[in-house]
Amino acid sequence: MSLTIAVVVGSLRRESFNRRLAEALTRHPAAAGHSFTFPDIGALPLYNQDDDAKQPDAVQQLKRQIRAADAVIFVTPEYNRSIPGVLKNAIDYASRPSGDSAWAGKPAAIIGTSPGAIGTAAAQQHLRNVLVAVAMPTLGQPEAFLQWKDDMIGADGKLAGKTELFAGKWLEAFLAFVQRHRA
Ligand code: FNR
Repeated sequence: MSLTIAVVVGSLRRESFNRRLAEALTRHPAAAGHSFTFPDIGALPLYNQDDDAKQPDAVQQLKRQIRAADAVIFVTPEYNRSIPGVLKNAIDYASRPSGDSAWAGKPAAIIGTSPGAIGTAAAQQHLRNVLVAVAMPTLGQPEAFLQWKDDMIGADGKLAGKTELFAGKWLEAFLAFVQRHRA
C-alpha cells in the first residue's frame, strides 16, 4: 500500500548532509511508490506556550502536514551530543496544545549522519526519549548511524555503495513497521 511519509530534517543548513541524506532516501528504489513531504521547520517561531490558544500559521501548516502523513522519518544531525534546538522546537510546537498533538500514534524512524565517528548516535538516543513523550511508536532496529563521507551520495543525488544497500534494508524494515502499525 502506498504511504505518505513526512521527512523532518533537523538541519537548516543550505548544504546540509542530513538534508542530502533525506532527499537521497526518497530516491532509493525501496522508496518507490510512496510519497514524501518535507515540512519546513525553519519557518517556525520559537515555541511560547502563550501561543497555544492561537498557534502561528507556520505551526498550523506543520501540524497539517504531519497529520496528512502516515508516518514520519526524522533525519537529524547531532549538536553537542543532542538534537538541534530547531528540531526540538518543531516537536514541541506540533505537540501542543495539550490533547491536540499532531505526532500522537504516528509511526516514526530516526536516521542521521555526521562527520563524527558515532554518526549521531547520541542525538538519536535523546530523540528516542522525546518520541516516547509524544507517543510515536519508533522503529527500534536496525538503527542507522551514518558517518558522513563525501562519496556516500553520488552526483545524481542517490545513495552509493554500502550505504545504498544498508539504507534499502533500513527503509524496508521501516515500511513494514508502518504497515504493521496501520493494521
Ligand atoms: C556540531 N557537530 C557535531 N557532530 C557530532 O558528531 N556530534 C556533536 O555533538 C556535534 N556538535 C555540533 C554542535 C554544533 C552547534 C554544530 C553546528 C555542529 C558537527 C555536525 O555533525 C556537522 O556540522 C554536520 O555537518 C551537521 O549536519 P548538517 O547540517 O550537515 O546536516
